[in-house]
Amino acid sequence: MTAGNGAGVVDDRVPLPPPVLRHRVGGVDDYEQVGLRIRSDLVELLPPDWSFEGKRALDFGCGAGRVLRHFLGEAQTAEFHGCDIDADSIGWLKAQLCPPLHVFQNGEAPPLPRPDGFFDLIWAASVFTHVTDQWSAWMVELHRVLKDGGLLIASFLGPGMSETLAQEEWEADRIGMNVLRYAQGWDQGGPRVFLSPWWIAEHWGRAFEILDLREAGFGTPQNRDAMQGVVLLKKKGECPSQEELERIDPEEQREIAALQHNIRQLHAESQTFYDDLQWSLQGRERGGEQSGELEALRSALRTLETSRSWRITSPLRQAGTVARSLLPGARPALTLPALLHRQHRASPSADAGDRSSSTSRSGARSDASPPVPLPEPPLPGAHTTAKLSRELASELGRPPDWMYPWSLAPGTAAPLLHPELPSVHRTRAEMIEPAVRAALAEAGPKATALDLACSEGYFGQRLLEWGAQRVMGIDIRAQNVRRAELVRDHFGIDPSRLSFQQGDVFDIDPETVGRFDVVLLLGLIYHVEDPVGVVRLARRLTRSLCVIESQLTRQNGPIMHGQGVPDVLFSADASFAVELEEDSDHNPLASTPGVLSLIPNRAALELMVRVAGFDRAEIVEAAPHHNPQYRVGDRAVALGRAQRTHS
Ligand SMILES: C[S@@+](CC[C@H](N)C(=O)[O-])C[C@H]1O[C@@H](n2cnc3c(N)ncnc32)[C@H](O)[C@@H]1O
Repeated sequence: MTAGNGAGVVDDRVPLPPPVLRHRVGGVDDYEQVGLRIRSDLVELLPPDWSFEGKRALDFGCGAGRVLRHFLGEAQTAEFHGCDIDADSIGWLKAQLCPPLHVFQNGEAPPLPRPDGFFDLIWAASVFTHVTDQWSAWMVELHRVLKDGGLLIASFLGPGMSETLAQEEWEADRIGMNVLRYAQGWDQGGPRVFLSPWWIAEHWGRAFEILDLREAGFGTPQNRDAMQGVVLLKKKGECPSQEELERIDPEEQREIAALQHNIRQLHAESQTFYDDLQWSLQGRERGGEQSGELEALRSALRTLETSRSWRITSPLRQAGTVARSLLPGARPALTLPALLHRQHRASPSADAGDRSSSTSRSGARSDASPPVPLPEPPLPGAHTTAKLSRELASELGRPPDWMYPWSLAPGTAAPLLHPELPSVHRTRAEMIEPAVRAALAEAGPKATALDLACSEGYFGQRLLEWGAQRVMGIDIRAQNVRRAELVRDHFGIDPSRLSFQQGDVFDIDPETVGRFDVVLLLGLIYHVEDPVGVVRLARRLTRSLCVIESQLTRQNGPIMHGQGVPDVLFSADASFAVELEEDSDHNPLASTPGVLSLIPNRAALELMVRVAGFDRAEIVEAAPHHNPQYRVGDRAVALGRAQRTHS
């Protein structure tokens, strides 16, 4: 095999790993560019007189060789080793690029099967961004396998990744080693470990001299303020023990601030996790499901309250120790089990006695106890610990109240227009999600979606979660668009992926905006004077799936009407109720402009979807746990499917 040249450019004949392995370390399509970028960042960090010739280098966490493949030129005169916990990636490298590379699989914890002082250089790109409990063990091990004076380059999550991965502004004084998503699976990106430069100096600096530290810009040519930070370290003589590396200096006030902040972050995370579990459990219990999945959810809740709470609150216990040593008499903060208990205090019947004796903490009923109502579950949606911007805080105080119960920060929710809304939104989200996900998945990675009458952008955000790459929302009310943008920015969502426009949907020109893989038309057709027109318009904007949701009349029998000949009556199954909607100026849900609102019955809704030119129309059936309006047929979700192109 011909290896690449010394500048890291890979020869065409060097095989690419299959997409599944490329995907494990990031993007599939930009695999070569990112690998090359990391190579050049590594080389740039090395001392000016550095030469690879005759050296031994280790890519610690090499995956399928995204970076190593750009060192095949140098591998003619130097030894390049790679290791990873992923057996498939190592298997592929062994079969395809060894020799000249040398690779081996390592475990989650040390040791590495190499003798002391073996390597001149080790790099770890996107590794300490995920390593949690084992960090000090790995630092000691990397120190061991490095030669005296050997170099270690490690990337870390710092300021450039805070808004994206922690949804908060970076404040170095409250970040030490802050671990988020502690138990997150690798398929979802694994744990997220943020490190601040002062913490690296304080802890890693005990075993290594810091030669260079860049807070951001590692692995990206475009935005040097974004992405990971990177540090170049030089092995110091004797390696301190793990305990010494981890030791917290009581004089360093930032350690406590960082641990306290991590506790707040973990509380918010555990709250979300717990709420999501409760929400799923409640939905399924209402639906009368008796599946193994339900038992698994219950068991997950039990686990949350036992072993997981112990693990999740480990920083809390650490902080407690530090706080006690510094502040005599200080009490440890709230523990997770206490936090979970707080949920139940909110429920009226749970207030009446000794909860622990009558209920399990999961809220599930023990045999001898009275039923305890579950807390109202939150809507599916983003959670953040970011601070409210001034604009968003002042918008929250402005009338009218809000359409969606946005959970904007722990304890801060948008005031709601009507208490029924969360249940309606939850039902719609559940009814819509499977079809939308399928259509977006079929459309591929560039899937687009349009939300007509998007209000505050709640479903726009869901569309991104459900697989859209880009979403546009339009609403006639400037205030709704302003709210949609403020909330989007609050959750740190990229405006180039989720954009909003103020305008009348009837002014949309399909020739200009083109078509979208998925179009949502929720809660609008019964507010406009031309419901058929808006469904036709939606059809022209739809490439694959249009979701139409509407209020319905209960007129399910036919209506008799004359038709040109005296005393001859026709019967129509499809019909509309006509309402005067005079309150459009102050009712933020209503149409504007327009005075009449036409509410279809179920047959009219189906007929409209068909005549608009969709190839198939279906009504999504409500489940027993859904909002009663959908169960009794006062509201419905219709799907219009398009199979052919439509100009
Ligand atoms: C009942 S809300 C539905 C909001 C959202 N689609 C949902 O279902 O969650 C109706 C929305 O339609 C918007 N709207 C009414 N007439 C409109 C029009 N002609 N063009 C665009 N938006 C309109 C209102 O401002 C309001 O946000």
